[in-house]
Formats: sequence, C-alpha cells, structure tokens
Amino acid sequence: MARREDRFVVVGAGRVGTAVGHLLQQRGLRVTAVASRGEDSLQRAGGYISGALMTTDVVKAGKKGNVILITTPDDLIADTCLSLVSGGAVRRGAYVLHMSGALGLDVLAPAEEAGARTASVHPLQTFADVKGAVKRIPGSVFAVTARDEAAGEWAKELVRSLGGDPVTLAEKDKTLYHIGAVVASNLLVALEHAAELIYQEIGIYRETALKALMPLIEGTVSNLKRLGTEGALTGPVARGDIGVVRRHLECLEREERELLLRVYASLSLFALDLAEAEVSRTRCEELEELLRHYL
Ligand SMILES: NC(=O)c1ccc[n+]([C@@H]2O[C@H](COP(=O)([O-])OP(=O)(O)OC[C@H]3O[C@@H](n4cnc5c(N)ncnc54)[C@H](OP(=O)(O)O)[C@@H]3O)[C@@H](O)[C@H]2O)c1
Repeated sequence: MARREDRFVVVGAGRVGTAVGHLLQQRGLRVTAVASRGEDSLQRAGGYISGALMTTDVVKAGKKGNVILITTPDDLIADTCLSLVSGGAVRRGAYVLHMSGALGLDVLAPAEEAGARTASVHPLQTFADVKGAVKRIPGSVFAVTARDEAAGEWAKELVRSLGGDPVTLAEKDKTLYHIGAVVASNLLVALEHAAELIYQEIGIYRETALKALMPLIEGTVSNLKRLGTEGALTGPVARGDIGVVRRHLECLEREERELLLRVYASLSLFALDLAEAEVSRTRCEELEELLRHYL
C-alpha cells in the first residue's frame, strides 16, 4: 500500500503522467521528481505538480524516489526502464510501474533483475488532455498486472488512492484486453469519422455533420448504459429488414466504397449476433448469407 513516506517519481510528463502526479499530490502523497524529454511538457506539468524536481534527466529524477511510474509512450518504456536501471536509479525494494494496456511486465525486466517490484496499472479510459485525465482517472477501472501477489496488492492500493477501481489482469491476457479497449473507444471514434465522410459526400461538412450526429451518438451511449448491447441495438439488422440492408450494401458497392462496404458488412454480422433473439432464424440465415457475400 502507498505510504506517506513513499516518494513518487513520474517519468514522462504527458497527459497520464502529469495527471497521475497531480492526483497523488492531491491525496497527500509525495511526488519528488518529474522527468520528461522536453522543457515544454515539464513546464506544463509544473502547473499541476508542485515542489517536485522537474528535469530532462531521467536517472537524476529516478534517484529521487522509491516508486517510479514510467508514463512515456509505450515504445519507449523498455528503453526508459533500462536507462533507469543502468544509471543506478532503481534500488532493491523499489517499485517500478508502467501504465500501458498493451505491454506486459517483460519491458520492466531490468528493474526486476535489480530487485525492484514491478507492475502495470492501466486505466480503461481515454484521455485527450491532462485536464480530462485529472477528471476521469478517479472512477475509472484499472487493469492491474503484477509479478507477485504482494506487488499486485500494493498496485491495487495505489489505484484506489487515485480514486480508481482496480481489477486483476493476467499478463497473458493483456493483448486481447487492450484490443477490447481499442475497439470500444478508438475504433468508435474512427467509425464516427467514417460517418462524417459519408455525410461529406452529400455536402454536410465535418463540424456540422458531427454536431448533427451527436444527439444520435449520445442517445446510443445512453441506451447502452441502460439496456446493454442487446437492448440498445436498433436499425435494419435488429428489425430483420433485409431489403434495407441489401440497398445499403448495393449503394456502397455502386459508389465503390470498398473499405466501408466491408466494415458495414463485418459490423452488421456482429449486430446480427445481437439480433438473433428477436429476428426469425430463417431471416437471420438470409441476412448472414447476404452480409458474408460482401466481406
Ligand atoms: N492517453 C490515453 O488515453 C491513455 C489511456 C490509458 C493508458 N495510457 C498509457 O499511459 C502512458 C502515457 O500515455 P500518454 O497518453 O500520457 O502519452 P503522452 O501524452 O504522449 O505523454 C508521453 C510523455 O512522455 C515523454 N517522453 C517521451 N520520451 C521520453 C523519454 N525518453 N524520457 C522521458 N520522457 C519521455 C513525452 O515528453 P515530451 O512531451 O517532452 O516529448 C510526453 O510528455 C502510455 O503507456 C499509454 O499507453 C494512455
């Protein structure tokens, strides 16, 4: 469990690192150093985290604490950990954590070999900026992956002190877990962009299109919250309206929108999975055959 005497070091003063440092301080914990690549992000972090050493020297920062949170981009976590260890910043008994959803603990192996406890704590949330991260970290579910039970319990306690809700995730399941997060969030944004592009073709441009679609998007999210995926699904597949689905597919084919045609057909198959309880078996089979034809 995070203790008052723990000294936290944040390496990577981006959206997540800055917000986590800020929230730790808000909860009365000590953030002694923040390291980042550029002065600009350190300066911004200074507006959220006070009294900490702000430096571009990762090792110097690491030496200031016994809990090191690596919040660089994922591709740099392994190298950053290695630099910290080879610079002598990771002592036996220290904690070294990262916050990536995609990576396992192997990227922290040098710290483990140096006698540190390692874990990853991934917020199942999307942060477009520091302000949003400060607001959304509390209340978010965090996937906690640790090498041993003691480190896991410690990391869960840390998550709770950030106001998060920790759940245990096995290292072997991280990639699929992260794919789920990407599908639910990033690809949802991509899907709305696809809708924007369709509207652009009929003369409704970006901001107007998104503004017009927003009540529909919000209505959908609200239905999902209240009714779950099965209850929230409406539209031609949910009604078993084969004629409409065929018309859509033929239109996309005529317009030579091949990528969208495949996306439409693939996602409609997932929709069909949800509609099976409501739509007759024969109709489902017909729909499936039609959709598979366009994959
Ligand atoms: N954003 C999200 O929605 C989200 C959600 C869940 C988990 N995460 C995870 O949180 C972690 C951080 O993501 P983020 O969104 O906060 O990224 P970010 O905003 O891009 O921040 C990364 C920071 O790392 C710094 N950095 C880059 N190279 C460095 C180096 N060699 N040494 C020290 N600092 C370095 C960058 O500094 P400069 O700005 O100075 O270049 C940047 O400020 C990642 O593991 C990510 O997977 C992110």
